[in-house]
Amino acid sequence: MTRRARVPALAKINLDLRVLGKRPDGYHELRTIFQTISLADSIELAFTPSRKPAIALDDPAAIPDNLVVRAAGLLFNALRIRGRLDIRLDKRIPMGAGLGGGSSDAAAVLLALPVLAGKPAKIEALLELATQLGSDVAFFLLGGTAAGIGRGGELFPLPDTPRRAGVLVTPGLHVSTVEAYRALSPRLTSELQQNKIFSFQSLTWGGGVSAANDFEAVVFEQHPRLAALKKRLIRTGAEVAMMTGSGSALFGLYPSRDDQHRALHLLGDAQAFPFSLVNRARYRRMWWQALAPYAAERMWPPTSRHPR
Ligand code: C5P
Repeated sequence: MTRRARVPALAKINLDLRVLGKRPDGYHELRTIFQTISLADSIELAFTPSRKPAIALDDPAAIPDNLVVRAAGLLFNALRIRGRLDIRLDKRIPMGAGLGGGSSDAAAVLLALPVLAGKPAKIEALLELATQLGSDVAFFLLGGTAAGIGRGGELFPLPDTPRRAGVLVTPGLHVSTVEAYRALSPRLTSELQQNKIFSFQSLTWGGGVSAANDFEAVVFEQHPRLAALKKRLIRTGAEVAMMTGSGSALFGLYPSRDDQHRALHLLGDAQAFPFSLVNRARYRRMWWQALAPYAAERMWPPTSRHPR
């Protein structure tokens, strides 16, 4: 019997992103605030029990480094899954845009496959596998608003961001994350590091500090068009206008839907479109609905003890 599900893989934005310095493991120490948004890929999974394990991906966009297949492979091993998994990816999140599309697709497989295969996994185990796949993957096991520290995969829940209407601009540029870190790294000092820790802490406590993305300094130098886009977003009345991740997408947040519509009209740009923030409760609901036929209990994503 084949068990099928169509699951969502939401995009993220970074509401704040500070790079402190290089760590002994070669990665960079981060302080960031992740937020899931309504833009999403759609993934169809079909699992058929069989003696011989197999993973097949039907990906119309033919994405070369396939985190989805790697995620499935890790789970097959970790949970000793016996069966055939067919995956179909419907990509809507642009790649190389700082929106976490590939990471979210991988996390979606980590959440859905154990349920389809009838081998529920503990969140601790999934978080560990997520970290092996990439720094952003763990966040998508949780969703909503979260503070990410360390490599970005050590996550703490934050209260929901106040309701805002968003505009995303995807300029069609592919920014290499590795290159962006390489350009930023020599500019990081221990004095800056202390300031960033205090600013980030104040921000999460709601201390009236303005949000920032450290990658803007280096990525805007390489792509002045992105700096100009940020200025345009500010001129449309955005309360916050920032690049997400290491770019190239930028977002603006507006107090109301009316303001959002006005901004879209002013931008008059085919690459600008509306989005909404997706909080943790809604993120969970989407998952429960997608996997309802196969899940005995609502066990994932885990409920935190603190903010909803
Ligand atoms: O973890 P992930 O594979 O997504 O990271 C891609 C690259 O970005 C890493 O190889 C590393 O060069 C850089 N990176 C970093 N520090 C982080 C996250 C990523 O230096 N916290």
